[in-house]
Amino acid sequence: LRIAILASGRGSNFAALLAARDRGELPVEFVLVGSDKADAGALQLAEMASIPTLVLDPRDYAERRDYDFALFERIAASKPDLLVLAGFMRIIDGDALKPWVGRMINIHPSLLPKYRGLHTHRRAIKAGDREHGASVHYVTAELDGGPVIAQTALMIGPDDDENTLAARLLPLEHQLLPAVVALIAAGRLSFHADVVTFDGEPL
Ligand code: GRF
Repeated sequence: LRIAILASGRGSNFAALLAARDRGELPVEFVLVGSDKADAGALQLAEMASIPTLVLDPRDYAERRDYDFALFERIAASKPDLLVLAGFMRIIDGDALKPWVGRMINIHPSLLPKYRGLHTHRRAIKAGDREHGASVHYVTAELDGGPVIAQTALMIGPDDDENTLAARLLPLEHQLLPAVVALIAAGRLSFHADVVTFDGEPL
């Protein structure tokens, strides 16, 4: 499976994918790591692993759509089978992403459908939730609204603040994302005509 990654931040989820591949647990080839931020941690990791990188600065584009279409054109050129958003912190234009529906997944730090968007840890604590978690979902035009593939959960402790909660969740994300990518690489998951299928059965 040929994989392209988009990441804006630290890149620890991409690091987890790389580590899984290096352990022989992920039969994938990373064909591109792209970012909207020149200083994204994922880019450094990619360079160290001799994976091609791409930086496109949104400030060079007048409109969001122009940026998104340019980005996907560049990504398409590296012919990935799957595009993984691993902390890509931009909302993507619905028309630009349409050709990728079914071939693009995102990891989001909440138990979707709860808390789409930002500040998920803070919002879960503030709501008094007992549980929090992360979800991997197929990307559709609806922000953090595509069908969920898998989730990981943990209990919110009485002493948790948004930082401790995020820090405790992160290692679980690092297991969840490679596990889902492994299922896709094994051909066990698909998303087609609005239906997610796992081992041939609707999920
Ligand atoms: C993760 O919490 C992920 O769920 C969210 O953004 C964060 C990215 O972290 N989408 P990292 O850049 O992978 O370390």
